[in-house]
Amino acid sequence: MKVLVATEKPFAAVAVDGIREVIENAGYELVLLEKYAAKADLLAAVADADALIIRSDKVDAEVLDAAKKLKIVVRAGAGYDNVDLAAATAHGICVENTPGQNSNAVAELVFGMAVMAVRNMFNGTSGTELKDKSLGIHAFGQVGRNVARIAKGFGMKVSALDPYCPDEVMVAAEVAPVHSVEELYKNNKIVSLHIPATDETRKSVGYDLVTLLPKNGVLVNTARKEVIDEEGLRKALRERTDIKYVADIRPDIADELLEEFEGRVFFTPKKMGAQTAEANINAGIAAANQVVAFLRDGIDRFRVNK
Ligand code: 3PG
Repeated sequence: MKVLVATEKPFAAVAVDGIREVIENAGYELVLLEKYAAKADLLAAVADADALIIRSDKVDAEVLDAAKKLKIVVRAGAGYDNVDLAAATAHGICVENTPGQNSNAVAELVFGMAVMAVRNMFNGTSGTELKDKSLGIHAFGQVGRNVARIAKGFGMKVSALDPYCPDEVMVAAEVAPVHSVEELYKNNKIVSLHIPATDETRKSVGYDLVTLLPKNGVLVNTARKEVIDEEGLRKALRERTDIKYVADIRPDIADELLEEFEGRVFFTPKKMGAQTAEANINAGIAAANQVVAFLRDGIDRFRVNK
């Protein structure tokens, strides 16, 4: 059996070693396709693969059509908006993710970017501290919960909104539950986004919410660019010259925003949230173990499609 690891943005070498060990110990063959420049490379590599491990790599119907022997796709990470689930189901292919495995890495980056924002992008002028400031966590999943844990160390006041998470879970984490999105944005100096990109959330954060932020508010996005209404954000940044937007995902209009709002917006050049050795090892090896469990024993505990 062939297990293809296709990562346009590669795992750390130490994680690849760990994945190889799991796959080869199970008697399977590991094929590595890293930093591929064209979709054609993925289409060719996937043709005889029995299993596929990916990150944010796009697995659409064309890729699934080309993968004649494919039985399982594991997204080594949380968000699986890059996989065409309906097409996978139609092909009888199982799709899984590895929830929680890279969430601390993403949560730590939230604070890296939040500190940078409140210190005026390190431009030498006097900024502010995070201590005693209010933090609103928009979606209380695995990353949101790690953000709450770290925020305590900074001495922040933490609240969260998540219609899919019971209040008790937040209360147990000493986080104040919020039940309206408007309240979340209005009452928190820093709002950190952790919503997945779905039909429900696409372009859901724009002018109306961003302009609710209090004076000198900061919006931190380590989630997905798709959840932002970029034109609404641009309008909000124009009107509210005190607000900053820092993101781990370059917006489509990144260059325009950087030019117009210099010093108030920041984007990592490539999504860096999960790009640590630890997250790569955790998510990569979990993905490899899930592939083996599925191919060998039919276990599909982390299945996300029907
Ligand atoms: C995720 O959904 O797990 C994160 O966004 C990380 O994505 P990446 O593996 O492409 O860095």
